Amino acid sequence: MQRVSVSKISDYTDQEVTINGWLYNIRSSGKLMFPEIRDGSGIIQGVVVKSAVSERVWEDFSKLTQESSIKVKGTVSKHPKKEGVFELQINDVEIIQIAEPYPITPKEHGVEFLMDRRHLWLRSPRQVSILRVRNEIIQTIRDYMYDNGFILFDTPIFTPNACEGTSTLFSTEYFDMGKAYLSQSGQLYAEAGAMALGKVYTLGPTFRAENSMTRRHLTEFWMMEPEMAFYDIDDDMDLIEDFLENVVQRVLKNCRKELELLGRNVSKLENVKKPFPRITYDEAIEILIKKDIPLIRKTSNGEEQIRPFPWGEDFGAPHEEAIVEDFDKPVMVHRWPAEAKSFYMKRDPSNPKIALGVDVLAPEGFGEIIGGSQREDNFAELEKRIIEHQLPLEEFQWFLDLRRYGSVPHSGFGLGIERMVNWICNLENIREAIPFARRPNRITP
Ligand code: 4AD
Ligand code: MG
Repeated sequence: MQRVSVSKISDYTDQEVTINGWLYNIRSSGKLMFPEIRDGSGIIQGVVVKSAVSERVWEDFSKLTQESSIKVKGTVSKHPKKEGVFELQINDVEIIQIAEPYPITPKEHGVEFLMDRRHLWLRSPRQVSILRVRNEIIQTIRDYMYDNGFILFDTPIFTPNACEGTSTLFSTEYFDMGKAYLSQSGQLYAEAGAMALGKVYTLGPTFRAENSMTRRHLTEFWMMEPEMAFYDIDDDMDLIEDFLENVVQRVLKNCRKELELLGRNVSKLENVKKPFPRITYDEAIEILIKKDIPLIRKTSNGEEQIRPFPWGEDFGAPHEEAIVEDFDKPVMVHRWPAEAKSFYMKRDPSNPKIALGVDVLAPEGFGEIIGGSQREDNFAELEKRIIEHQLPLEEFQWFLDLRRYGSVPHSGFGLGIERMVNWICNLENIREAIPFARRPNRITP
């Protein structure tokens, strides 16, 4: 007997097969039962005809509760009315375990209730679809990188220093060597990789001790960071464009069913084709001023609105939304005020107040998905920045070595995997974009 997965069922029309799975739901009407069986790859409706099966089989099905684990045998048939839908005419069942009353039922539950039961919530069709899209995004990224000559370069998570500002570092004791920090980004190490291998990428977990409970922030998230020797900021943006188009179009092609289940308007994603708009930070500010979007600053007695939006400030969610509103593609905002950005970014040769950084804002108000830049490749300049940012110079000597020995112009970027999933799946909140979200108020399950 063939053991098959639901996703491959159409290959077995009129054949006898076994499906191993869980009871998702069951309806009965006297002499017929319609168990829905899920196996992780999909859900299939079974048909149990009382007069056609043994008494034992009929009774076993009567006992089954939601999420009971079973092996069923039957013949695959085409649904009498629905094109492309298959059913299983069941003739036998083996019960593996009868599930206790399942806490998650098809009725509506609150999000915190579901997050407390995340280990079970993951089994729902919506969560399964999101995780399948996530899988496709990551596989596409890996294939794109491999096909374009990038070498996978795994970077450490325990690090002795900050990469993206010292205010968001998680620390831990590291034997008798003092504090180690959980990496905020693999970039600094990827730069060493690029000098060794030309074009590299790293894909792994990164950590930010940001005490923000927004719809877009996690304390532990996955980042994909390519780093390329001999790339300037424009080469970097060309790569971002080609890369994003490629990933989005392949996910669209391979995850139609999942996106449909999620209610995603795919025509918006079909637009994601080169070229993308490239605007400078100054042009972005003009949009904010024209739309009268203020900077909101927290003060001791609440909030203060500052108009017009002052030059030099980073954008928050309302600003990102206003900037992308009139575009139907990802928007690349480049050439940022240096003071708003990280120490390693190269300054614009024509204006030292400007850093050669780029942020990519997703359309439809999903916010920043990519941050990238051309890196400072001049030894003296970089050393000065490290000191200005009050970073421990001795811990950066190895990083400075990359500018001592054969320094070259180089660039890279970081894509937040969950931000990407958020956008592609059109999620309300980033907590659904990763199997087990870590946020300031949650570390279990
Ligand atoms: O803009 P960021 O901080 O850039 C870097 O870390 C660079 N070192 C990347 C590089 O050039 N190699 O972070 C990059 C991306 C953001 O655009 C966002 O998508 C994601 O990482 N990100 C977060 N995602 C979820 N939760 C958070 N707290 C995030 N912080 C950043
Ligand atoms: Mg950023």
